[in-house]
Amino acid sequence: MARVILIASGKGGTGKTTVAAALACALCDAGRRVLAVDLDAGMGNLDIALGMHDAALFSIAEVLSGAVAVEQAAAPVHGREGLSLLTAPTAGYVPAADKLASFCADIRAKDTDVILDCGAGLGDILAAAREAADLVLVVALPEDASLRNASSTAQFLAQRPALKIRLVCNRIPVKRRILRRTRICIDTCMDNTGLPLAAVIPEDEGARLATARGNVLYDNSRSSVRESVKALAGRIISNIF
Ligand SMILES: Nc1ncnc2c1ncn2[C@@H]1O[C@H](COP(=O)(O)OP(=O)(O)O)[C@@H](O)[C@H]1O
Ligand SMILES: [Mg+2]
Repeated sequence: MARVILIASGKGGTGKTTVAAALACALCDAGRRVLAVDLDAGMGNLDIALGMHDAALFSIAEVLSGAVAVEQAAAPVHGREGLSLLTAPTAGYVPAADKLASFCADIRAKDTDVILDCGAGLGDILAAAREAADLVLVVALPEDASLRNASSTAQFLAQRPALKIRLVCNRIPVKRRILRRTRICIDTCMDNTGLPLAAVIPEDEGARLATARGNVLYDNSRSSVRESVKALAGRIISNIF
């Protein structure tokens, strides 16, 4: 069963694009067809996270306007058969909610998962994506400000009652000295956002290097993002949410 998965958070820099790219790779490696859509108008970097900078030309804007068919617009992601990408639209673009929802439903009907990588904030793009999604992953850091923003995001998304909204705790510290505090921290994350937990992703020491080198983090076999997001993809495929 294909799904439309929205990656959201109130704040920027929580790891939405990192999770979106890793989840796209994980679902693809598990045999799913996947369309990754960058909805961070003017600020997108999903192409870079997928190792596709300068390779993906078309965005959801050209597809929804009817200028280009999705088959031509979606750029095949290097080295991952079945995964393709629509890069970010220009700043100020907002997709019509009904058009985005019917576009995503058409892709889903072709047994292809859709991943929507949203920017920060509770604006019109998130409102449109809310209408298209089956499952939302709200990515939050274990910090008061991030949890408060995640909670506001969840309330905004819950305006569509059928939507499944789950929490992804990202950048959880792994040093042994603070493990005890980390456990409390994950409880606090769930309690403060009021969201059930979908995944816990540890701080990944390789993330900075991957970004600096333009590598795909998921391709690093020692990546903790890879390990956690692979497990998350397994949960999504087994339909436990
Ligand atoms: N689990 C992690 N461990 C270490 N660094 C991370 C992790 N997740 C994300 N990052 C880093 O945080 C920064 C912001 O991530 P990004 O995915 O672009 O966030 P967003 O899309 O929410 O703005 C990037 O430099 C990324 O490499
Ligand atoms: Mg991003």
